[in-house]
Amino acid sequence: ELDGFAHYMLKEIYEQPETIRNAMRGRLNRDSATAVFGGLNLTAQQLRTIDRIVLTACGTSWHAGLVGEYMLEAFARLPVEVEYASELRYRNPPLSSNTLLFAITQSGETIDTLAAMREVMRKGHPVLSICNVVGSTIARESDGGVYLHAGPEIGVASTKAFTSQCVVLALLALYFGRLHHLSYEAGLRVIDELEALPDQVEQALETNSDIRRIAGKYSRCNNFLYLGRQYNFPAALEGALKLKEISYIHAEGYPAAEMKHGPIALVDENTPSVFVVPRGGVYEKVLANMEEIKARGGPVIAIVNRGDEEAAEIADDVVHVPVVADFLQPIVTSIPLQLLAYHIAVLRGCDVDKPRNLAKSVTVE
Ligand code: M6R
Repeated sequence: ELDGFAHYMLKEIYEQPETIRNAMRGRLNRDSATAVFGGLNLTAQQLRTIDRIVLTACGTSWHAGLVGEYMLEAFARLPVEVEYASELRYRNPPLSSNTLLFAITQSGETIDTLAAMREVMRKGHPVLSICNVVGSTIARESDGGVYLHAGPEIGVASTKAFTSQCVVLALLALYFGRLHHLSYEAGLRVIDELEALPDQVEQALETNSDIRRIAGKYSRCNNFLYLGRQYNFPAALEGALKLKEISYIHAEGYPAAEMKHGPIALVDENTPSVFVVPRGGVYEKVLANMEEIKARGGPVIAIVNRGDEEAAEIADDVVHVPVVADFLQPIVTSIPLQLLAYHIAVLRGCDVDKPRNLAKSVTVE
C-alpha cells in the first residue's frame, strides 16, 4: 500500500498533483467561465442572495479556511469570516439571515466541526460541507457540499486534504465571483491558472532533495518561526503546524510583519525563520522583514519563486517553487513546507505517520 514510500505521509505528499486534478475534475466550465458542482443542493437564485459566508473548521482545515477567506473576498467581494469550530459552537454570534456556513473537514467526523454546524443549522442557516470522506457524518448532515475526492488520507498530518481543500475553495470563490461581479474573461483566467496547477505542484515536489539537505542542517533546532503575508500567511501557519505535529519542535506561524510586535524577541542563531515569500504585491515588504531577522542573527530559510535572486541574497537557504497566481501560492508553497516537516521528523526519529498524543480524527470534545 505504501507503493515504495517510507511513510504514508510522504506517499500522500507525492499524490498531490493527482489529488488536485481530482478535486477539479468535471468542475470547470469554460463556456460559462465558472465552476460547477453537483451537490450544493441550493439554486443559483438562493446562492446569489447570500451576503456573508462563515467558514468553520479545526486544525489544518481551519488553515484552508483562511486561504478560502482571501479567495472569496478577492473574487466575490463577499464578507467572510473563519471561525474555529470549537469556538463557534459556544459563541452564539449574531448571523444575518443571508449567512451561509461552510464546514471544512477531511474526516467529516470532527466533533467540534459537527457541533458548530448543527448549531448554525438549528438557527435555520444553510450549511454546506467541504469533506473528503464520502458518507461521513458531516457530509450526510449538511444541506449539501463538495467532496475533495483526495482518496484516503492515512498519515495523521494532513497534506493532500489541505491542498484539495484550497482548490475546492478556489472553485467556490470562482463560482461566487461569477454570481456577482467577476467578468467572463477574469473567470477564464482563473480556470487557466487552476488547470496549470497540477504540473506546477509536480515541479514543487522537485524541491525534495534541497529540502532534505536543509532539514539536515536545522533538524537539531528546537524553535522555528514561519512567516508569510497575505495568501502565504495561512501557508506559514500550516507549515508551523506540520513541524509541531510530527517532529515535536516548537514552531510558530505569524504574518511576517507581526513579528516586530513580539515574536522577534525569540530570534537567535538557533531559531530559524522559514519565510514564504513568492513574488507578489507584498514581496518587497517581506524582504524587509527578512532583513530584520538576519540583522538579529537568525538563520533564514526562504521559499521563493524560480529565478528570484534578490531573496536568495538575503536568505541562508532557498527553495525554488514555480511562479503561480497569488491565490494559488499557498498550495504550491505548502509542498516544500510539508517536505521540510517530514524530513526533519524522520531525522529526529519520530513516528511520522502516528505522532504521539494525536488521532487522525478528533471525535471527542
Ligand atoms: O478531519 P478534519 O479535517 O476535520 O480534522 C481537523 C484537524 O483535526 C486536523 O486538520 C489536524 O489538525 C491535523 N492532524 C493536521 O495535520
